Amino acid sequence: MAREELLGPDDLGPSDDDEVLAPEPVPGDEAAEAGLRPRRLEDFVGQAELKEHLHIILEAARRRGQAADHLLFAGPPGLGKTTLAGIVATEVDVALHVTSGPALERAGDLAAILSQLTDGDVLFIDEIHRLSRAVEEVLYPAMEDFAVDIVLGKGPAARTIRIDVPRFTLVGATTRTGLITGPLRDRFGLVARLDFYEPEDLEAIVVRAAGILDVEVDPEGAHEIARRARGTPRIANRLLRRVRDFADVRGTGVVDLDTAKAGLATFGVDERGLDKIDRALLEALCGRFGGGPVGLSTLAISVAEPTETVEDVHEPFLIREGLLMRTPRGRVATAAAWAHAGRVPPRGAPGGDDAPPPGLFG
Ligand SMILES: Nc1ncnc2c1ncn2[C@@H]1O[C@H](COP(=O)(O)OP(=O)(O)OP(=O)(O)O)[C@@H](O)[C@H]1O
Ligand SMILES: [Mg+2]
Repeated sequence: MAREELLGPDDLGPSDDDEVLAPEPVPGDEAAEAGLRPRRLEDFVGQAELKEHLHIILEAARRRGQAADHLLFAGPPGLGKTTLAGIVATEVDVALHVTSGPALERAGDLAAILSQLTDGDVLFIDEIHRLSRAVEEVLYPAMEDFAVDIVLGKGPAARTIRIDVPRFTLVGATTRTGLITGPLRDRFGLVARLDFYEPEDLEAIVVRAAGILDVEVDPEGAHEIARRARGTPRIANRLLRRVRDFADVRGTGVVDLDTAKAGLATFGVDERGLDKIDRALLEALCGRFGGGPVGLSTLAISVAEPTETVEDVHEPFLIREGLLMRTPRGRVATAAAWAHAGRVPPRGAPGGDDAPPPGLFG
């Protein structure tokens, strides 16, 4: 049986798959995250273009009294995909049904959920890239014609009947656009990629969260936390909570620049926002593997992390920071990576001064 919950727009649950992000989560973190989720589009910070598109689509749907077009949100963890699904339901003032790709095991699981919807409802499928083929096939006619085909009987006597389902809005979320099949992707009316956030946006997110959590934070303190949050709102909020703990226990309770710096250092977040695992990755890459090229799975095993975590969470950030490169032969350290790891690249190592430009001999 599929796990599916009917939620009001106001109680979108916490995400359960973020224990991979640093610093180490403490119990209660996820509940805290749920409390910080913006409910309305106007409270959602940054991503201006996406917000404008959504505003138009949702406003049009509301005026027509029809379900909005299907929406796909793609991007790295913690950038606001689940939050946006909740916002879509709140803005159109309809119920939100939550499920996920892996939870929908059989075609019947999805058919059962679809038949329980009411006209206009939002169905949120998280990790939609993990839907099985059979389930995806049920989804196609449901998205396009608001109908599901059910096969009755077996063998030569089998026949298919088509059952109508309510007109719903599908909101899909994925960390892997590359794994979404073409036919599924094409059935969305909007495919939005969420980008990492600018430091100013993260600063606004920290200030907003501080207001909700009743933490006194000065602009320099907020700036420092934002700067080290790896472009990710979830991490900004988490760092704020850790620095607040630090300020309460070791400081005066106020988050200023010095407290932020000391707190972040205590929790192992360095100047550039790298956490323990990021640093272990660079250390393995430059130390054990001489700067690479090395395969992703080997690198992941050497820091005892799942390959998926390294690929979804750490690698995009390290690439964006110019610390790591993806080449056809594997992952390679850049000159900046050697510098950050505090090591001198050996002669001829990728990223070293005398190294051939990448790709020339690859
Ligand atoms: N634009 C934003 N403005 C303010 N807060 C945000 C924004 N985006 C995300 N957040 C905060 O970051 C947290 C994580 O966001 P969310 O759970 O929506 O990410 P996600 O993209 O669904 O991540 P995952 O891929 O891990 O499921 C939320 O609890 C919310 O508080
Ligand atoms: Mg999510």
